[in-house]
Amino acid sequence: MGIKFQWVCLVLTVQALIVAGEFFKPFNVSYDGRAIIIDGKRRMLISGGIHYPRATPEMWSDLISKSKEGGVDVIETYVFWNGHEPVRGQYNFEGRYNIVKFVKQVGSSGLYLFLRIGPYVCAEWNFGGFPVWLRDIPGIEFRTDNIPFKEEMQRFVKKIVALMREESLFSWQGGPIIMLQIENEYGNIESSYGPKGKAYMRWAAKMAVGLDAGVPWVMCKQTDAPEYIIDTCNGYYCDGFKPNSKKKPIVWTEHWDGWYTNWGDRVPHRPTEDIAFAVARFFQRGGSFQNYYMYFGGTNFGRTAGGPNIITSYDYDAPIDEYGLLRQPKWGHLKDLHAAIKLCEPALVAVNSPHYIKLGPQQEAHVYSYNGSKCSAFLANIDEHNSATVKFRNQAYILPPWSVSILPDCRTTAFNTAKIGVQTSIKTTGLDVASYSNDPAPLKLMAPYEVDYISKTWKFLREPIGAWSDSNFTYQGILEHLNVTKDHSDYLWYSTRIYISDEDISYWEENQASPVLTIDSMRDFVCIFVNGQFKGSAKGKWIKVVEPVDLIQGHNDITLLSQTVGLQNYGAFLEKDGAGFRGQIILKGFKNGDRKLTETMWTYQVGLKGESLKIYSIDENESTEWTDLPTDATVTRFSWYKTYFDAPGGLDPVALDLSSMGKGQVWVNGHHIGRYWTLDAPKDGCQTCDYRGAYDSDKCVTNCGRPTQSWYHIPRSWLQASDNLLVVFEETEKTPLEISIKSHYTETICAEVSENYYPPLHAWSLPKTSNGTISLNHTVPEIHLRCDAGNTISSVKFASYGTPQGSCQNFSRGNCHSPNSFSVVSQACMGRQSCSISISNAVFGGDPCHGVVKTLSVEMRCSSSSSTSSSLML
Ligand SMILES: *[C@@H]1O[C@H](CO)[C@@H](O)[C@H](O)[C@H]1NC(C)=O
Ligand SMILES: *[C@@H]1O[C@H](CO)[C@@H](O)[C@H](O)[C@H]1NC(C)=O
Ligand SMILES: *[C@@H]1O[C@H](CO)[C@@H](O)[C@H](O)[C@H]1NC(C)=O
Ligand SMILES: *[C@@H]1O[C@H](CO)[C@@H](O)[C@H](O)[C@H]1NC(C)=O
Ligand SMILES: *[C@@H]1O[C@H](CO)[C@@H](O)[C@H](O)[C@H]1NC(C)=O
Ligand SMILES: *[C@@H]1O[C@H](CO)[C@@H](O)[C@H](O)[C@H]1NC(C)=O
Ligand SMILES: *[C@@H]1O[C@H](CO)[C@@H](O)[C@H](O)[C@H]1NC(C)=O
Ligand SMILES: *[C@@H]1O[C@H](CO)[C@@H](O)[C@H](O)[C@H]1NC(C)=O
Repeated sequence: MGIKFQWVCLVLTVQALIVAGEFFKPFNVSYDGRAIIIDGKRRMLISGGIHYPRATPEMWSDLISKSKEGGVDVIETYVFWNGHEPVRGQYNFEGRYNIVKFVKQVGSSGLYLFLRIGPYVCAEWNFGGFPVWLRDIPGIEFRTDNIPFKEEMQRFVKKIVALMREESLFSWQGGPIIMLQIENEYGNIESSYGPKGKAYMRWAAKMAVGLDAGVPWVMCKQTDAPEYIIDTCNGYYCDGFKPNSKKKPIVWTEHWDGWYTNWGDRVPHRPTEDIAFAVARFFQRGGSFQNYYMYFGGTNFGRTAGGPNIITSYDYDAPIDEYGLLRQPKWGHLKDLHAAIKLCEPALVAVNSPHYIKLGPQQEAHVYSYNGSKCSAFLANIDEHNSATVKFRNQAYILPPWSVSILPDCRTTAFNTAKIGVQTSIKTTGLDVASYSNDPAPLKLMAPYEVDYISKTWKFLREPIGAWSDSNFTYQGILEHLNVTKDHSDYLWYSTRIYISDEDISYWEENQASPVLTIDSMRDFVCIFVNGQFKGSAKGKWIKVVEPVDLIQGHNDITLLSQTVGLQNYGAFLEKDGAGFRGQIILKGFKNGDRKLTETMWTYQVGLKGESLKIYSIDENESTEWTDLPTDATVTRFSWYKTYFDAPGGLDPVALDLSSMGKGQVWVNGHHIGRYWTLDAPKDGCQTCDYRGAYDSDKCVTNCGRPTQSWYHIPRSWLQASDNLLVVFEETEKTPLEISIKSHYTETICAEVSENYYPPLHAWSLPKTSNGTISLNHTVPEIHLRCDAGNTISSVKFASYGTPQGSCQNFSRGNCHSPNSFSVVSQACMGRQSCSISISNAVFGGDPCHGVVKTLSVEMRCSSSSSTSSSLML
C-alpha cells in the first residue's frame, strides 16, 4: 500500500468576485522587500508569458484557461507598438491586436495581468516592436536622451496607459492589471550611450511613474533603476538575484523555459526537470514572482518575425506548444510544481527571509518557519552528477542530482523537480520531439501523420524580374534598403544597365577570365540576375558578396533583389542599423579598371507585383492572369502558386507542410501565414541531452541536418471546411505539388509511475472547510492520461504493472508483471479522452511480486473521436 498521511495547510484564495462590469473587487497592488502585495497580502506569484498577436483571438480563451489549469496566476505580455500604430497616428486595436479584449479575457478568467509596455520589446519581433516610420522622424535617436524619440515614446506609453484606464483594467478599478514594465533590458546597452543613457533611463522611469497608473512598475535587467521602480532579473536561472534595494522584492520577469530559433539553426529544447529546478531554486532562495518566457510562444505570423532570420514558429519549447496544445510532460510537471509552491505560500509570505542550513557539500535547505505553526522547506542538491541522502530535522531524504525537494510542512516531500509523474505526449509535428531522461538517451524522432487534403491542380503566375510598374524610379547611386521600402515589403529591386564592348569580351576570352560582381557588405539576402537570368544568391549579416557573372557584348542589365528576413530586434542604435547594401558595388576584371556600379544610375522598384495586386487575397484581382500549372512543368524561380484545399475534420490544429519547398511566403484565405524557408540545420551537434547541469541554448538541440521549420501553423479560425485558398510565393525552382496539410495532435501518450512515487499532487482533492483551511489527503499514486480535445484513447500499445523497463515508445516487461495489466488499463482508458489509474495491488487484482516496488508503465495512442469531418467554424 502507498503511504498514507494527512496534514492541514492554509491557502490564501484569490478574491475573484465579479462585480458588474468588473473582473475583481477593486484592489491595490504594492510591494515590500519580500513580495508583491495584493490587496494587503503578500503573494507568491507564477506568471506565464502569452503574446496576444502570436495567436488569434479565437485561441486566447483556451490558452488562458490552459494557463490557469497549469497553475498560473498572472498572464504576462509585451505591447507591440508597430502592430498598434502601423502608420503614425493611425492606431490598430483590432483582431490579433485587440489588446483590450485580451486583457479582459485574462480578467474574466480570474487571472492577473502583467503588461510590459516597453515600448521597445525586443521579443524576436520585427524591429523590436518599433514602427519603422520612427526612423524617419527628423533628428531621432532611439532609446537615448533624444527629444524626438522621447516624445514619440511618451505619446505611445501614455496612449496605452490611458486605454487601460478608460477600460477600467487596472487592479484598483477592478481590472486584472497588477504590474507594468517600462523599457526592456536597457541595462544591457545603457553604457553604449554614455551619460545620455543614464539620463534617458531616469527619464523613462519618471515618465512612466508620472502616468499615475496606480500599480508598480518594473525595469528588467536595470541594476541602476531608481528607488521607485523594481529592477528585475531575466535568464535561465535567477536564484542568486538581488534587486538594488532591500525594499524591493525579487522578481524574475523572464524565465527562459526554451529559446527562439533562426533559419538554418538547430531547434533548442529545455529539459523540464531543469526548468522545475530553476523555479524551485528561485522560490527557495527568496524569490517572489516568476514569469515563464514563454508559457505559450505561438507564431510570428506575416512579417512580424524579428531578425535577422528569426523563424516563423515562436514555439519556444513552451509548456503550451505553438498550436495551443499542452506540451507534456512540461506543462504537467510544472503544474505539480506550482501546486507544491502554492502549498508553501502561507509560510513563504510569513517570513522576510528563509533560514539557511547547509546539508552537505552541495546540498542545502532553506526553511520558512513562522511562529511554530507554519513551516515549509526546500531541500536542494546542486550536484550535477550524484544523488545525495541528506538528514533534515532527523529524517533522511534522498535527493536526485540537480534537484529540489519541496516540503510544504517541513516534513513531507510533496514534489521533487527531477521526478516526473505526469504523462509524456508525442505529437505529430514538423519539429523533432526530444525525449529526455535521467539517463542520457538518444533523442527520439517521430514520423509525421500523413493526410492529403490539397488538390493536385495548381495555378501559377510568374513574378517579373526587376521593375514592374510606374511606381519604379531612378536614382544615381545606391539607396539604403529601408529608406526606400519603409518595410512595406521584404523585397527591393535594384537594376542598372552597363555597356560591354567587343574589347572587354576579347580581353576576357584571351585571359580565360570573367568579370566578378562584388558587394562590400550586404544583409539579409540577395539574389543576383544578369539579363533576367538568375546567377546566384547570398545570405548573411553584413557579409561580402563575390559573384562571377557572364556578360554579353552590348547592353547588360544587372538586377539585384535585396531582401530583409525580419528587421533587427536587439542592440543599441537600431535606427542606424538599416538593411540592404553598404559600401561599394563593383564589377571587377576589366582591362581598363573596375566599374563602380555604386555610381551608376539605378532603377528601383519596391516589393513584388503579386504583393501589389494582393493576389493572395480571396477577392480576385482582375489584373491577375493565372495559368494552369502542368504537373510536368519546367518551373521557374519567383513564381506565385495557388490552389484550394479542404480543412481536415475534427478539432486538431492544422499545419501546412512546406518541407518540399525552398524559400518564400505563404497565405491562406488572404491571411499571411508567414515566411518559410527550408534551410537545413548543421548536421552535427544533436547529441544526447541530460537535464543535469546549467542549461544554455546549444545544450539540447534537435533537427540536425534537417530544415529548421517544415510545418507552418494555419489557425483553425482562418479556415472553412472546404475551398480554402492557398497562395505561395516561391523564390526557388521548387514546385508546390508536394505541399500537404497536416493535423497536429498528440498521437502517443505515455506515463510511468511507481507505487512509492511522491504524493500525487495532481490527484489531491482539496476540500475547503468552513474556517478557510483545507485538508490535503494523500492517497495512493495515480497515473493520469489525457488526449487533446476531440480525441480519445484508441489503443493501448503497452501496459505493465510490475517492474517494466525502458521509456516512452520503448517500454518492455520486467521480471515482475501483473497479467491483468493490459485489461485493467484498457478498461479504464479505451474510448475516453482522459483516464486515471491507481498504482495499487488492489486495482490490478493482487500483488504480482511481494516485496518489490511496483511501477505502472503505459503507452497509448490517441485519435480523433469523430470519424465524420465536422464543419470547422470554431
Ligand atoms: C487603494 O489605495 C488608495 C490610495 O491609498 C485608497 O484611496 C483606496 O481606497 C485603496 N483601494 C482599495 C480597494 O483598497
Ligand atoms: C503565534 O501562535 C500562537 C498560537 O499558536 C498565537 O496565539 C499567536 O497569535 C501567533 N502569533 C502571531 C503573530 O500570529
Ligand atoms: C518605370 O517607370 C517609368 C516612369 O514612370 C515608366 O515609363 C516605365 O514603364 C516603368 N517601368 C515598368 C517596367 O513598368
Ligand atoms: C535614409 O534617409 C535619411 C533621410 O530621409 C538620411 O538622413 C539617411 O542618411 C538615410 N540613410 C542611409 C543609410 O542612407
Ligand atoms: C488589385 O491590384 C491593384 C493594383 O496593384 C491594387 O491597387 C488593388 O488593391 C488590388 N485589388 C484587390 C481587390 O486586391
Ligand atoms: C479548521 O477546521 C478543521 C476541520 O474542519 C480543523 O481540523 C482545523 O484545526 C481548523 N483550523 C483552525 C485554524 O481552526
Ligand atoms: C482521506 O482519504 C481516506 C481514504 O480515501 C478517506 O477515508 C478520508 O475520509 C479522507 N480524509 C479527508 C480529510 O478527506
Ligand atoms: C530500448 O530499451 C532498451 C532497454 O530497455 C535499451 O537497451 C535500448 O537501447 C532502448 N532503445 C531505444 C531506441 O531507446
